[in-house]
Amino acid sequence: MTYRELYLDLKHQAIMAEKEESAVTILFLETAQFTYKDLIINYDSNIPNDIYVKIMQRFTAYIKDNIPVQYILGYTYFYGIKIKVNTAVLIPRPETEILVEKALGCLEERINPKIIDIGCGSGAIALALKKNLPCADITAVDISPLAIETAQANAVELKLNICFMVSDLFSNVVSKFDVIVSNPPYLAGEYEAESLVRNNEPPIALYAPDKGLYYYYKILTEAPHYLNNPGLILLEIPTNKAEDIMAILAQFGLENKSTIEKDLNNQNRILIIKYD
Ligand SMILES: C[S@@+](CC[C@H](N)C(=O)[O-])C[C@H]1O[C@@H](n2cnc3c(N)ncnc32)[C@H](O)[C@@H]1O
Repeated sequence: MTYRELYLDLKHQAIMAEKEESAVTILFLETAQFTYKDLIINYDSNIPNDIYVKIMQRFTAYIKDNIPVQYILGYTYFYGIKIKVNTAVLIPRPETEILVEKALGCLEERINPKIIDIGCGSGAIALALKKNLPCADITAVDISPLAIETAQANAVELKLNICFMVSDLFSNVVSKFDVIVSNPPYLAGEYEAESLVRNNEPPIALYAPDKGLYYYYKILTEAPHYLNNPGLILLEIPTNKAEDIMAILAQFGLENKSTIEKDLNNQNRILIIKYD
């Protein structure tokens, strides 16, 4: 069987099963270790048997077992870096790259900022910041020991020096920081998650009490004890709850110090608070 025949057949099967065609492309390219150009060049070559078997195993896991491609492969890409993922951590999302982008923009003038990432999961945000700000002093915490283990493994792999800690928000944090970043859990319940997410990603990374807003209250309540002045907070927010977030900011008297930045789909996505 040629690459062309299998590729077109699996894409057709994905469409019939109402799954993402792009997932087939990722599985195909990553398994064959091809760029898209390689695939086109090799379109009419026969697929070696070992590659065929591996593609079919992975395709079945995606189509029949409803497992995300990133967990099947064991890695994903975030802000240009390859990050190991497993079912103990959320799969880093492209929209979270906006948080990194905004943080880097805010920190252009700073030489060695002290940054803490609350709820680091795979370490995606902390790793991307450290890669782009080598002189930054970065701490990353998570309540899940398995997430911290994964984030630490990623840092070792990428040769990035970050201080990791198991901590319930700030409970084990003793120093102050110039910047707090976080993409906290913010889904109100299972009804807000699609099945691929609900059935695979860790609930502790997804759901939060108080209609998904609990961590915004908690972080804003505790932040003043852990933030230098001037200081900066950047939080990813649920796109459908910007009004609720604004109401929380008003409770803390922060509405005039805050801006909400949009993502590439023009949705409210990143809350930036400047303390001075
Ligand atoms: C939405 S995930 C974000 C993961 C990663 N920062 C990212 O953007 O891909 C939220 C993370 O917060 C962690 N978490 C949940 N409750 C926490 C708490 N009370 N203290 C610290 N981390 C917490 C979860 O384990 C999870 O890794």
